[in-house]
Amino acid sequence: MKTPFISAAELDKITAQYPTPFHLYDEKGIRETARAVNKAFSWNPGFKEFFAVKATPNPAILKILQEENCGVDCATDTELIMSKKVGFEASAISFTSNDTKAQEFVYAREIGATINLDAYEHITFLEQVAGLPDTVSLRYNPGGVFSLGTDIMDHPEESKFGMTKAQLFQGYQDLKEKGVKSFGLHAFLASNTVTNAYYPTLAAQLFELAVEIKNELGISLDFINLSGGIGVDYSPENRQNDIAAIGQGVHEQFDAILVPNGLGHINIYTELGRYMLASHGHLVTKVLHLKDTYRHYVGVDASAVNLLRPAMYDAYHHISNVSNPDGEIQVVDVVGSLCENNDKFAKNRELPEARVGDTLVIHDTGAHGFSMGYQYNGRLRSAEILYQEDGSARLIRRAETVEDYFATLYGFDFDKD
Ligand SMILES: Cc1ncc(COP(=O)(O)O)c(C=O)c1O
Repeated sequence: MKTPFISAAELDKITAQYPTPFHLYDEKGIRETARAVNKAFSWNPGFKEFFAVKATPNPAILKILQEENCGVDCATDTELIMSKKVGFEASAISFTSNDTKAQEFVYAREIGATINLDAYEHITFLEQVAGLPDTVSLRYNPGGVFSLGTDIMDHPEESKFGMTKAQLFQGYQDLKEKGVKSFGLHAFLASNTVTNAYYPTLAAQLFELAVEIKNELGISLDFINLSGGIGVDYSPENRQNDIAAIGQGVHEQFDAILVPNGLGHINIYTELGRYMLASHGHLVTKVLHLKDTYRHYVGVDASAVNLLRPAMYDAYHHISNVSNPDGEIQVVDVVGSLCENNDKFAKNRELPEARVGDTLVIHDTGAHGFSMGYQYNGRLRSAEILYQEDGSARLIRRAETVEDYFATLYGFDFDKD
């Protein structure tokens, strides 16, 4: 069973102060996960987790992770600016983007972020627009199918990200000739994996590649970034990944492949988003209406603008009715208000009876939740609230207002009545 990280009584105090819907984050859980990740890879002295900012781009969250010795990975100049303002040192900021604008490379260079190039063609582009830094990382895409045993995990050949093996080798060669001094390797081959074998399998592939790069090009990589992709138990039927076992699995591959080939100095980096934050966020919403037609509908005050994953990927998010946990079980669709029939947080789901005014918690929304939000139908982005270790609640982003929505429009004076 999945239970909320906050008691009903504590949550009532917060909903009395802040209108729903809002995203609530659990500081204690975030710190515990960050510590567990750092412990799992502590065998590698240069290990660093570069939190994928896109998962939860809020300075208060980034600050907590910074205090737990994590860095950040940014995809855009906006995320770079936020990370810089939070106070991350240059060495703790990486920049993994694709289809990148010149101004973004210029800014990444200016603040000294480590640039991870998505495309072979970007080497010349970066050189022209911002000059080459001393350190460059390249993103690899092996093509084909990525599988664990007989399980197909993903199809890298269909992915727009990364470069082929031939481009990767040519890229390192070119960069070396152009004077680049230190090199990294990055790959992200499967998303939301619920198996302890993903990272070790990926690591083994990248470690073999590092040995080839050394033998063929005479380049000893400085770091290998295993990127994101470790999943969480969105459904109670999923098993939660064991980060200690994952770290141990990567360690074994490191000792078997890199160490005997004189590459035991390589730093291991990760770029996790979901694993760090997903379980430590709840979307808190209240029941507005009940409706019975061909199905029983529970209409809530959140919608897909606050959490896109169910509409976009048909993703499962567990739901708890904290106001009526022992209510009679009913089969319902939990829906938002958008004029889109995919605006459903649950379909044909067994839930304790939901009554108008009840508070529901939608679980595992701490990563790729608020950040994937949008404003369809003029529905506005919600607040974000931090449930702090001392039990108090801190507003870390206010809800958008109608004035915010109108603020970017020109040609009309909305202040005039
Ligand atoms: C480049 C990159 N790194 C890391 C991540 C984080 O992935 P996850 O949240 O699955 O760990 C993403 C997610 O989209 C990504 O695009």
